[in-house]
Amino acid sequence: MDKILIQGGRRLEGEVSVSGSKNAALPLLISSLLTPEKCLYQGIPDLMDIHTTLKLLSRLGVTVEKDGRQAGGVGQVALQAGGLSGMEAPYDLVKTMRASFLVLGPLLARFGQARVSTPGGCAIGMRPVNLHLKGLAEMGAEIDLVHGYVEAKAKKLRGARIHLDLPSVGATENLMMAGTLAEGTTIIENAAKEPEIEELATVLNKMGARIGGAGRGMVTIEGVGGLHGVSHRVVPDRIEAGTFMVAAALTGGDIAVRGARSDHLDAFVLKLQEAGVGVAVAADEIRVKGAIKPKSVDITTLPYPGFPTDLQAQMMVLMSVSAGVSVITETIFENRFMHALELSRMGADIRLEGNRAVVKGVGSLSGAPVMATDLRASVSLVLAGLVAKGQTEISRVYHLDRGYEHIERKLSRLGADIQRIKG
Ligand code: UD1
Repeated sequence: MDKILIQGGRRLEGEVSVSGSKNAALPLLISSLLTPEKCLYQGIPDLMDIHTTLKLLSRLGVTVEKDGRQAGGVGQVALQAGGLSGMEAPYDLVKTMRASFLVLGPLLARFGQARVSTPGGCAIGMRPVNLHLKGLAEMGAEIDLVHGYVEAKAKKLRGARIHLDLPSVGATENLMMAGTLAEGTTIIENAAKEPEIEELATVLNKMGARIGGAGRGMVTIEGVGGLHGVSHRVVPDRIEAGTFMVAAALTGGDIAVRGARSDHLDAFVLKLQEAGVGVAVAADEIRVKGAIKPKSVDITTLPYPGFPTDLQAQMMVLMSVSAGVSVITETIFENRFMHALELSRMGADIRLEGNRAVVKGVGSLSGAPVMATDLRASVSLVLAGLVAKGQTEISRVYHLDRGYEHIERKLSRLGADIQRIKG
């Protein structure tokens, strides 16, 4: 298995371009199941989760053409789901990437049947799919759980009024896709408002769907008889952008994050500014200048437009070297502090109390061998390595490869001393 070695202490400066959003791209690729026509997506990042999704679609019988020769390594993907050869998302793929579960809604809506492995728990908690299933059942699907698989069928899904107990991103996406081809109108109340929801609705509408209210908490989907092909460039990755912004803040650096959408990062930008970090927002970039010593700020993760859970681990690193004491409260996932234990090995002073982490800023972190446990935890260890004294060796970096495109190359160009040791 690959490792990442970082010699800390370099100030990062320069420009970095944000890749296409992983979390927006995954449902877009999967939405190609809703039409027999060709769908063309640009700006698809070169990531493990994207390859897993393409593998799954290809196993279902979707024709997949990749072209990674566009500028900046950004890839174009063409997908065509004419007739399918299978209706099953197997355990070996779903267990490595939960978003595979999103094939359930589109398969049911267009083909009337699907067999999809349940994802099971993961490093950051239980993460059930009950809301996806409840919604589809309300749309008339017959759902059985057989040997760890969801077996679902419906002659024709019908519109329904669905209230989500939690504004789940995945459930909103699955039900939105299912609703496009259902008979009648589907209303999703307490829907997630994340930018990825708006992005999916935009693309589905380009394909001929009739979706309103996406991003505002109540989504209305008028079912149509069929969808057609589409060409679309995926939005920039707000979490990757935020991660580079923390890198600038941490190293006292000066980084222009090109292509970042500041309107997707409001809560995060405000917190950085509250911590004394200089953030200047322009039309197509966000420039971040690190303060000498950041101030501690309290953070509570919330559904969008609140502070994103996917930037919690990165902010914990910044708070580890801040002046004062910060309380970080995680409200989205039940077990999302695995990085705290590894950061403590690097000298951070973090006390965990249930879903709260009390982080007391220390003078400096020191390099150590540490282990990545999930995607965002792993990038937080990279950030810690950048600011730590001496060498940090991060193992299990396959987590990082699921969600950060060419991260060593991008950080090296900004002046980091980082290298991958092939395992
Ligand atoms: C998506 C993102 C992930 C992000 C998360 C929250 C993708 C591929 N992943 O994950 O990066 O951290 O949103 O912003 O886009 N829940 C239930 N029942 C359900 C569904 C969810 O109880 O049926 C709970 C989950 O356990 C979790 C919370 O709701 O505690 C939020 O999960 P959800 O919004 O569904 O996250 P994902 O779509 O899995």
